[in-house]
Parts: sequence; structure tokens; C-alpha cells
Amino acid sequence: MENIEDIKQTFLRSLENATGKELEDIGLLYMGRKGKLLELTKALPLLPVGERPKAGKELNELKAFIKTALREKKEQTKGDGPREHDLTVPGKKVRRGHRHPLTLITEEMTNIFSSLNFSVVEGPEVETEHYNFNALNMPENHPARDLWDTFWLQSSKAKNLKLKTENLLLRTHNSPMQVRFMETHEPPLRIVVPGRSFRYEASDATHEIQFYQLEGLFVDRKVSVAHFKGVMELFFKKLFKDEFGGLRLRPSYFPFVEPGFEVDFYWKSKEKWLEIMGAGMVHPKVFEAAGFAPGEWQGFAFGLGIDRVAMLKYKIPDIRLFYSGDLRVIKQF
Ligand code: PHE
Repeated sequence: MENIEDIKQTFLRSLENATGKELEDIGLLYMGRKGKLLELTKALPLLPVGERPKAGKELNELKAFIKTALREKKEQTKGDGPREHDLTVPGKKVRRGHRHPLTLITEEMTNIFSSLNFSVVEGPEVETEHYNFNALNMPENHPARDLWDTFWLQSSKAKNLKLKTENLLLRTHNSPMQVRFMETHEPPLRIVVPGRSFRYEASDATHEIQFYQLEGLFVDRKVSVAHFKGVMELFFKKLFKDEFGGLRLRPSYFPFVEPGFEVDFYWKSKEKWLEIMGAGMVHPKVFEAAGFAPGEWQGFAFGLGIDRVAMLKYKIPDIRLFYSGDLRVIKQF
């Protein structure tokens, strides 16, 4: 029985770094049916009678000690060490990114125009006075410039860069790309230009200082308003499907088209005509600014509010929600 103390020390050493399954094994080794303590208990009768009670007592104490030590260690190490893997537990979902509603709608719209053989091109958001106004038949002091409240940029920087002192601004519409594109491409041509525009206005539920437009330009030898209407009807039918109930043109004025119109479409479930874009037949002055022989070419142009389409299609009541960064809104897409 001298080795009772040895057994205790060996036990304690083996306990030191043990966790989980190892603790179970140690338990069996000492307390199991073939464990060390039972062996010793069986050996008790081999001792001289006088020594038996003391040895029996020591053995019982060791038993109790090992039992508590194991229990405490199990408590302490709960959750440590390698765990068993339950392969049937459902995995954690990986959060995926998603696109902004304006990106989605722009893509849908440009895809439809691509299928009609339009090219999708983009232009600069910082424009020159020339492309935003002059080349669109609005020379300096033309009163129609007031239709677009403009963010002018301090052009001193441009002067330093020797950019030949053009007045710079944030484009107020995407129409400047009409002339930029015609200057560098031969007709006939069909383009749409998605992108951001800026207006120096108070914002409310339907107006923002920044918004997205889809400009369109179609140039060929013989182009009429009927072509315009046909193309747009096809487009809106694809975009709004069963909600689309027809197009209506109202006479309107934009310096870069003649005739010009405001275009409404009929939203069936609302039983309402809704204004959706400005449009018209390309003005000869614009062809002239782009270097196209006027009289030889004809075309139609339009400027469609992308935000407005997204608001209708996704039932979003306030344009400002697109730019607020509110995750509750954009997470839904
Ligand atoms: N650029 C005009 C606007 O933003 C819309 C428009 C485009 C009108 C093309 C006619 C032709 O108000």
C-alpha cells in the first residue's frame, strides 16, 4: 500500500492537460471495472489482518479524491479541445453582396436597348459649358439655360492645368454625350448613355441634386417621330410588361430638338398617365455642332429618368432613399 501516494501523483500528472475524451479514459483507467482501484481493493485480503483497515481507509480516500478531481476537471475544461463534428448541423449562411437598385434597373434598361442594337456608352460627369449648353443650341445668355439649375465649378484649377479656360460644370443632363459621340463616330448610329446628372435644386421626394439619366440618340438618313414612338413602345413593353398601357407625346420645348415632346406612359394598375421623359427630333444646330451635314441626317433623342423608373418598378416612394445608404432599403435587392 506504499504506492497509494505514487498512484495519486501519477493520476494528478495525467490530469494536467487532459480534456474531454482523455478525461473519460483516465476515469476508466482508475475507476473502471478493470481499473487500478478495483485491482487494489481485490488485493486487500492479501495484507496482514492488522494493516487492512488503514489500507482500506486510504483506498477509499483515494477513490473519493480521484472522483472529485475528475469531476472538477471536466467542469473546467468543458468546451475545450477538439470536438466531435456533427455533420448534420446546418451551416452558417455566408452573406452575399448585392447590387444597388439603380444599378439593377440601369442594367435591365441598357440590356433591352442592346437587344435593339443600341451601343451603351458613358461620358464625363464634369462637363464643359460647350458640351452641356453651347453645342446643344444654347449659346451664352440663352434663356433656356435657366431650365437647368447648374453647379458651376471654379475653373481657376482648369486654367492652371492649361485646359484653355473652359468653364466647367457638373453636367445637368446626359445630352452632352450626343455631340461628343457624333464628333467621334460616323452615322448611322444608335446609342444609350446611362449615368449621373446634377442639378442645383432643393431636394424633395421626387427631386435630388444628383440622379441618373438614360440618354438615347438614334441617327440615320430617314428617321421620324413614328420610329421614336415604335422603339419606345417596344422598350416600355419589355420593361414594364403588363403594367404598360401605352405612350402619349405632348409638345414641349428643349433647345436641342425640334419638335420636342414630353412623353407619358400609362400605368395600368394605377390607371394614370405618368411623365417619364423628354424627347424630340435632333435639331439641325446640334448636327451642325457635331460636324454632320444638316439635311443629310435625321434623328431622335430622349432623356429618361432612371430613378423615376426604379421608383415605379420597385415601388419606392422617395428618391432620396436611393442615396441615403440606408441598409434597410438596399438590402431588399
Ligand atoms: N436632356 C433633357 C433633360 O434632361 C431631356 C431630353 C433629352 C430632351 C433628349 C430631349 C431630348 O431635361
